[in-house]
Amino acid sequence: MTEEHLGQEHPPLLPGWLPPEIDQTKPHPARMYDYMLGGKNHFEVDRAAAEVVLKAAPTARAMVRENRAFLGRAVRHLAEAGITQFLDIGTGLPGAGNTGEVARAVRPEARVAYVDYDPIVAVHSRALLSGDESRTTVVLADVREPKSILDHPDVRALLDFDQPVAVLMVALLHFVAVEEDVPGIVATFRDALAPGSALVISHGTDGGQPEVSAAARKGWDRATSQLVVRDRAEITALFGDFALVSPGVVQLPQWRPDGPVRADWETIWLDGGVAIKG
Ligand SMILES: C[S@@+](CC[C@H](N)C(=O)[O-])C[C@H]1O[C@@H](n2cnc3c(N)ncnc32)[C@H](O)[C@@H]1O
Repeated sequence: MTEEHLGQEHPPLLPGWLPPEIDQTKPHPARMYDYMLGGKNHFEVDRAAAEVVLKAAPTARAMVRENRAFLGRAVRHLAEAGITQFLDIGTGLPGAGNTGEVARAVRPEARVAYVDYDPIVAVHSRALLSGDESRTTVVLADVREPKSILDHPDVRALLDFDQPVAVLMVALLHFVAVEEDVPGIVATFRDALAPGSALVISHGTDGGQPEVSAAARKGWDRATSQLVVRDRAEITALFGDFALVSPGVVQLPQWRPDGPVRADWETIWLDGGVAIKG
């Protein structure tokens, strides 16, 4: 998939119809991300907030594209390694290069449980994925309550936790505040997995430019969740005793690139990696 294809094929909502749970008064991270990715599912409040980010950090668009490309490479790597079960938490609005599409290009039987706390994601994902219930489920749940995901009957009906499962937390955990105990949340997921399972994480950093980062993060000040950066040591610690796949936790363009690494990779302020449970 080329960069131009990323973010396309987002189906717009039916004109004039919005489910009552869709809030247009506050920016939502999923819709801001969709706007920056070039999708069609966002409102004025989301665009205005995203423009605050883009004004402070003009490479933010490149960051979201690199993030999405990392997700694709990580899923493809794991599918090629034999994983057929995926728990994609913080799914975002469905677009080209989603987890199921990438995994099934390698393993047509791959099963994916999509989880997000934003009702708009559930509405879109269910509409798009209906008819594929044997391989897909969409669950509205919050990663800050890990048991609500791990014990969810729809997740349990689709995924067998006695077999390897890849848990994806891609561009998710920077929306979880320090006081919410991110290390404890991720540990709960790690502990629930069988040997051979995988953890995929990408996470925002300050790129070594805390002032620019703080200005960009103001874009999420009034959003449903704020953006918190963490450093590489904190992000690496989230993998616990899982074995990191080479090259470890790195800035995303450097994670097993398909071609030459972009010259300006240092402007992509997201670290990430993939690790396997022994
Ligand atoms: C930046 S998007 C990332 C989408 C996708 N993972 C990707 O990397 O392309 C972050 C997603 O995380 C979701 N999210 C944020 N906080 C969450 C929480 N506490 N529980 C579940 N989902 C959450 C948002 O609704 C949004 O869809």
